[in-house]
Amino acid sequence: MSSQVVVGTQWGDEGKGKIVDVLAEKADLIVRFQGGDNAGHTVIVEGKKHVLHLLPSGVLHKGSLCIIGPGVVCNPFVLLKEMDTLIAGGLTCDHIIISDRAQMLMPYHCYQDELEEQAANNKIGTTKRGIGPCYADKYARRGIRYHEFIDFDHFKARLKEVLDFKNKLFTKVYDGHAMDYDTMLKDFEAIRDRILPMIKETTHIVNEALDQDKTVLFEGAQAAMLDINYGTYPYVTSSSPTSAGVTTGAAVAPSKIKTVVGVVKAYSTRVGEGPFVTELLDEQGEWIRKTGGEYGATTGRPRRCGWLDLLVVKHANMTNGLTDIVLTKIDVLTSIETLKVCVGYEIDGEVYDYIPSDQALVAKAKAVYKEFPGWNEDISKMSEYDQLPQNCKDYIKFIEEFTGVPVSMISVGPDRVNNIYVKEIK
Ligand code: IMP
Repeated sequence: MSSQVVVGTQWGDEGKGKIVDVLAEKADLIVRFQGGDNAGHTVIVEGKKHVLHLLPSGVLHKGSLCIIGPGVVCNPFVLLKEMDTLIAGGLTCDHIIISDRAQMLMPYHCYQDELEEQAANNKIGTTKRGIGPCYADKYARRGIRYHEFIDFDHFKARLKEVLDFKNKLFTKVYDGHAMDYDTMLKDFEAIRDRILPMIKETTHIVNEALDQDKTVLFEGAQAAMLDINYGTYPYVTSSSPTSAGVTTGAAVAPSKIKTVVGVVKAYSTRVGEGPFVTELLDEQGEWIRKTGGEYGATTGRPRRCGWLDLLVVKHANMTNGLTDIVLTKIDVLTSIETLKVCVGYEIDGEVYDYIPSDQALVAKAKAVYKEFPGWNEDISKMSEYDQLPQNCKDYIKFIEEFTGVPVSMISVGPDRVNNIYVKEIK
């Protein structure tokens, strides 16, 4: 049995899409277990760029079955649009199924997200894809699941019930407008024939595949620091993007999870609000943003950039149980004279070797840095570890030592083929 989980270890945008695409080559099944179309996974195949938000990045391998799992909040309109883009590009999408337990992310969730962000004193900087409101409805037991779309009379009644409630909220609390039931219903009627054949009971498909020794790849979106429980709350997303999310979001027992691959970007980025201890608000930060192309794949927002924060990666290891690290975008650091890596937070004169829960404390933290001399060699075409400059190897070695997790693969460029394989990911 091979179960591989790929997770982000920072604030997302570590390059998980590319890694999933690489590992998907050997996978029989690829499963997304949390999040929704707030993700932005960029995969470059033969020079062609594909940006995926909702579909698993493994969708580009037509040999593997792709599952949108029970823990996902799935906007059906976005899903079809994304599929249409792939089909127009000559790819097939007949290997995608949606769990009948997945939450249907509705048009009113997107509007609610917008109204809530507008009204909030403490803005989160969400992607406005309706993620928070959809998960809130799920836990308030007001959500609509995909199996409820099958009996259309039932769906109509549920839509009416929830939309009436939402319209009161929009008009009476947020001073917004009401959404029209008939228009919304028509939009759903128009997509029904395409969505229905994709709805399946997926928990037994996933578990049977594991029992039959097939390779199942679980694709995380977002990352450890955006985790609803252990991230920088409240500046987080509303799901569990850690390996624990696989158990609840794909119905897989913890004992069945063997490999947890943490994707670590060689520096840090963050989009949205919240403390960011190693943030570079100077020319160096701007240089990293430009060189690394750090602009949101979902929202187009410029990402905040900073030095690598190893307290963050250590935290991600603790909450995920990483077996392997895949290091990405280290080529972006080429030509920086001195590199810095954060190894502690100094808060009110005390040095922390872990991340405090209280974000007001984190906001006061000063990074304790370890410095490394950089390198000038172009590493983007290298394919063997031994070819890397010694200073680059030292940087990588330190990441391994500090986190206690081996670096199994190093991504040195955006294409599927730009990788250095150090150790097999099993
Ligand atoms: P939401 O997930 O749209 O509710 O946004 C909550 C927070 O998570 C915001 O700070 C977003 O910028 C951040 N976020 C959500 N998805 C991603 C992602 O895929 N990459 C990076 N940040 C994300």
